[in-house]
Amino acid sequence: MLSDQLVVERIRRDFPIFSRLENGKPLIYLDSAATSQRPIQVINAVVEFYEKINSNVHRGLYTMSEEATEAYEAARANVSSFVGCKPEELVFTRNATEALNLVAFSWGRANIKQGDTILITQMEHHSNIIPWQILSAEKKAHLEYIRITDDGLLDPVSVEEGLGKGPKIVAITQASNVLGTINDVKAIAKKAHEAGAICLVDGAQSVPHMPINVKEIGCDFLAFSGHKMLGPMGIGGLYGEFDLLDSMPPFLTGGEMIKEVNLEGASWNDVPYKFEAGTPNVEGAIGLSAAVNYLKGIGMGWVRSHERELIARALPLMLDENGVKVYGPTNPEQRGGVISFNVEGVHAHDVAEIFDSEGITIRSGHHCAMPIMNKFGIPATARVSFYVYNYGDEINVLMNAIKKVKRVFSVG
Ligand code: ALA
Repeated sequence: MLSDQLVVERIRRDFPIFSRLENGKPLIYLDSAATSQRPIQVINAVVEFYEKINSNVHRGLYTMSEEATEAYEAARANVSSFVGCKPEELVFTRNATEALNLVAFSWGRANIKQGDTILITQMEHHSNIIPWQILSAEKKAHLEYIRITDDGLLDPVSVEEGLGKGPKIVAITQASNVLGTINDVKAIAKKAHEAGAICLVDGAQSVPHMPINVKEIGCDFLAFSGHKMLGPMGIGGLYGEFDLLDSMPPFLTGGEMIKEVNLEGASWNDVPYKFEAGTPNVEGAIGLSAAVNYLKGIGMGWVRSHERELIARALPLMLDENGVKVYGPTNPEQRGGVISFNVEGVHAHDVAEIFDSEGITIRSGHHCAMPIMNKFGIPATARVSFYVYNYGDEINVLMNAIKKVKRVFSVG
């Protein structure tokens, strides 16, 4: 069995981006929660589509178009198996944001009535907040939030309180993009069903990082993005339980999503095509399928344990560093590969700039999760996020960069 170091070395050889320098230093990419890098296998799959079978899908009767259609549908089958659902239960979307909006717009407008309750959490990304704020304002429904504790976990009392209000839907992230918290969505889905609600899981930060099976979780919907899991930008997915998808009205309308149109009206295509109006992102789906093959090759169990090890190494060092405040659970077991932090007395953007001067790329800001910033009374955090191509040794460089921040700003 290869050591982690050797596995990572082998993985990195597949990523052309690591041959570039950042500010003259070897690139240490710690921003995979924003977007991951892509291996050559994914890049080649996209190039091959354009070089060999570029044509529209589900329309042309010529051989090349049939090949493109076959490749697109094979991608659907492969990606759906990765999350444990049937191909017809996977709608290709632009990203997790579009998938979440699809549910709020289509299921939400058909099912949420005046006075109903929608339950989400205080640790959601804006893309799992705004669609529900707009829907609840339009329908005069109540939007309730499960509170989070000071160590970045869901407050169990607030979970019960929220469920006690009889929500129609519980929409929750599986892994926080800011706090790293991994939520027990299986338990939440069960409780949601017992309370008479359906359960939507935002998997943007979990599907790339751990084994996922929607039937095992027992959720009704799961949203995810391809670009955070080694795939191209502009492709993502929505798993929806078949009967639920089948009962829902369309989201976007136009070509492909119809069965028949006349001047008086139209009827809808079958699931999942009902939700894929217009020419789809065929190259994206094919690239995402190549990414899935790549991740299957590494093994999602290895991905999770590799990130767990990186966190178990980095977290205590950061927690022990004077003048550094870390947000989220202190137990690495409760976390994905994300650590948000601040260096006291230094703005997160300045931290990110100093990191960049050392070749380390991180994100700083509110991470599209302002309610979390408000909870902790801060405007921003710096955030490191790990993935399959990060070495344990990069954590030493990261810690040295934190020390440099403190020296430059004479703090800590
Ligand atoms: N939602 C992505 C992030 O957390 C872009 O960075």
